Amino acid sequence: MNKKIIVTGGLGYIGSHTTIELIQNNFQVVVFDDLSNSSQKTIARIETITGEKIIFEKVDLKNEIRTGQEFSKHKDALAVIHFAAHKAVNESVKNPLNYYQNNLFAILNTLKWQYELGIKNFIFSSSAAVYGSPESLPISENNKIQRPLSPYGNTKKISEEIIEDFTKINSDFSAISLRYFNPIGAHDSGKIGELPKGIPNNLMPYITQTASGVREKLKVFGNDYPTKDGTPVRDYIHVVDLAKAHIKALTRLIENKQEKPLEIYNLGTGNGFSVLEVIKSFERISGLKLNYEIVTRREGDVPELFATTDLAFKKLGWKAELGLDEMVKSAWKWEQNYRNHNI
Ligand code: WQD
Repeated sequence: MNKKIIVTGGLGYIGSHTTIELIQNNFQVVVFDDLSNSSQKTIARIETITGEKIIFEKVDLKNEIRTGQEFSKHKDALAVIHFAAHKAVNESVKNPLNYYQNNLFAILNTLKWQYELGIKNFIFSSSAAVYGSPESLPISENNKIQRPLSPYGNTKKISEEIIEDFTKINSDFSAISLRYFNPIGAHDSGKIGELPKGIPNNLMPYITQTASGVREKLKVFGNDYPTKDGTPVRDYIHVVDLAKAHIKALTRLIENKQEKPLEIYNLGTGNGFSVLEVIKSFERISGLKLNYEIVTRREGDVPELFATTDLAFKKLGWKAELGLDEMVKSAWKWEQNYRNHNI
């Protein structure tokens, strides 16, 4: 049986962890990546972890002609998992056109070519950002979709709308959109993980970089929110759990089990942790005292976000298995590895 899968953005943070899970589930992986926010060295690391080769095509999905050429080479693929996108929230606020151009041309060209070449299954890497500032908690897939707070988030909302329109008119095309909450952590081998370019925006890499001495001090953005300890609460999910959900979604598509042309699932743990709880977990696991101070709120942050996870469990047979301590432990192992070994 042909089990070739095209993974766009397959060298990025979530893409690389999913590529490993795919290989370990006997899929053959073709990675499309433009290396704009990833390293070619990740290929060797994936191959070391899995003992298998991957096919790598350097391609900028904004380029319609080049994208078509690459898809033509791999039209025997069963499905596309589309991760390729820019993802820095604050950068998207500063340069919205760049974000709309990059993320939307990439999905448009991907959908166009894969469909034309007969690849009829599609998994999309979406975000809880599509819920905007949620009206009720926990957030279920039936929560109202609202204008995301950033252009980045809006590209995810618009992409879902594009997929919805596309599946409506093409009854032989099936898609699943996975809405991630807050992915953190790294592969337990310590060989791959999140590698943010420049100063991290997100909490976990900022914590690990502060502890390793790359950043002086973590700023905790506000402790006057209406939450358990005043700091914002998020549904952190281990990137390896997240990667495993993609295998479940893919299997559902390949086995034609989907009940709607476009199915949508939240991927979270259902548990909310505050910023201070994440810091405490880090201090306990690393045995270090983290240098941090409370400062004023960051614009655009909402007090609390966490998911209902019933639908993914019921339909995909998936639920997150790893807890906060495992997320933090793996993130710290990765940080130490790449600092010490110049990965
Ligand atoms: C978590 C909490 C901060 C940094 C973002 C995107 C979302 C998704 C995931 C995907 C917040 C606090 C953070 C710091 C802090 N994107 N914090 N000091 O904002 O929930 O979600 O990432 O690609 O779409 O919006 O995640 O990790 O930035 O913040 O106090 O230096 O940590 O205020 O409460 P967020 P985050």
